Amino acid sequence: MRVMSNAAELKEKYLYPNVRTYYREPLVLSEGNGCRVRDREGRSFLDLFGGILTVSVGHAHPRVVGAVTEQVRKISHTSTCYLNEPMLRLAERLAEITPGRLQKSFFTNSGTEAIETAIATARAYTGRLEVIALRHSYHGRSSLATTLTGNAAWRTSNPAGGIVHAHSPYCYRCSFGLSYPGCGVACAHDIEELIKTETTGTVAALIAEPIQGVGGFVTPPPEYFRVAVDIVRRHGGIFICDEVQTGFGRTGDYLFGIQHWGVEPDVMVFAKGLANGAPIGATIAIPEVADAVTANSISTFGGNPVSMAAGVATLEVIIEEKIPEHVGRVGRVMMEGLRRLQDRHSFIGDVRGKGLMIGVELVGENKAPAPDLTTCFMELAREEGVLVGRGGLYGNVLRIAPPMTISEEEAGEALEKLGRVCARVLR
Ligand SMILES: Cc1ncc(COP(=O)(O)O)c(C=O)c1O
Repeated sequence: MRVMSNAAELKEKYLYPNVRTYYREPLVLSEGNGCRVRDREGRSFLDLFGGILTVSVGHAHPRVVGAVTEQVRKISHTSTCYLNEPMLRLAERLAEITPGRLQKSFFTNSGTEAIETAIATARAYTGRLEVIALRHSYHGRSSLATTLTGNAAWRTSNPAGGIVHAHSPYCYRCSFGLSYPGCGVACAHDIEELIKTETTGTVAALIAEPIQGVGGFVTPPPEYFRVAVDIVRRHGGIFICDEVQTGFGRTGDYLFGIQHWGVEPDVMVFAKGLANGAPIGATIAIPEVADAVTANSISTFGGNPVSMAAGVATLEVIIEEKIPEHVGRVGRVMMEGLRRLQDRHSFIGDVRGKGLMIGVELVGENKAPAPDLTTCFMELAREEGVLVGRGGLYGNVLRIAPPMTISEEEAGEALEKLGRVCARVLR
């Protein structure tokens, strides 16, 4: 194979300019094992982002590699015109482990497609068009999904109709200038007025992430979802929970992010971490909601046996190795370590999240977002051999979300390296 001498040049010449890579010099990864990745020059990094919260149980996990290899040897494509065994097995497992009455799945290849399926499902079931999404949310890259997304940087110029945005439960930057708990979760109660003023009064659904991912790991107060979903249901809408980032143990202690908030969704959406990196999307709904979708639909690669086998194997590891409990434990260690760094460095404005989904918001004076400092932090972290993600409306939130199998020693190493970056970043 030809040696790629200059990745940045090749990228500029052959890829769309909107392929947004991290770092001044794009990083070309060529190997991964557990929580470590290597670039093509052989430099090793501790991976604290897992390919955007996707490598759930570590790079090249032997059980997932084994399941995928075995499946490729048997049959690697069927289309949704036929069934395949791993697809049925995964659908059954999802019905068993998801909360409440969620039961029937539709498989696709990405979160975006799974979101499209969820919105079409809500509209078919309710016979209504209008959907409430949240500001600061991210739901994908199609016309519909970018319109649901509450962040101008990720939206396109061809918005879909019928979508309004409620305030985000973003306590650090409260839209109402209030503080929790004195606020009485005003952001959730405001949905009542939103329905009465910004819609026809008849909504199909509320769609929301239990913790907003791309939005910078915005973590709601515990009662937010109970209040918000209750209002939407009273107005005849259903609740679509986007677990693309929060699913399968990521938030610690539970398998799904929404379980922290005590609400049972009517529809749930998965992708990313479900198959440890194999392309996958899944939408699961309670039976009567799923049964409302009768219009023809195929997905050529949806339910692909290789991705399905990867999904089944990933779930087996997550459940057998009690990953949610492990994530809860290691997540608390990391959260405490990052809060200690916050005590020492005034540019760390907020440390938030749950489990191994921790946001660190970098700020200047008076909480002013500090995106340039964040860029500098990411470059220095790369130099120190640690990869972190980035998010937030202002691009000033570090996203720390390693593979969920990260050990306590690796978490300690990560904190030490991040501490070194903190000491260097303002020099
Ligand atoms: C919460 C959430 N929903 C949906 C999506 C879209 O998923 P995909 O990129 O697989 O289309 C993403 C992607 O980051 C996401 O974070």
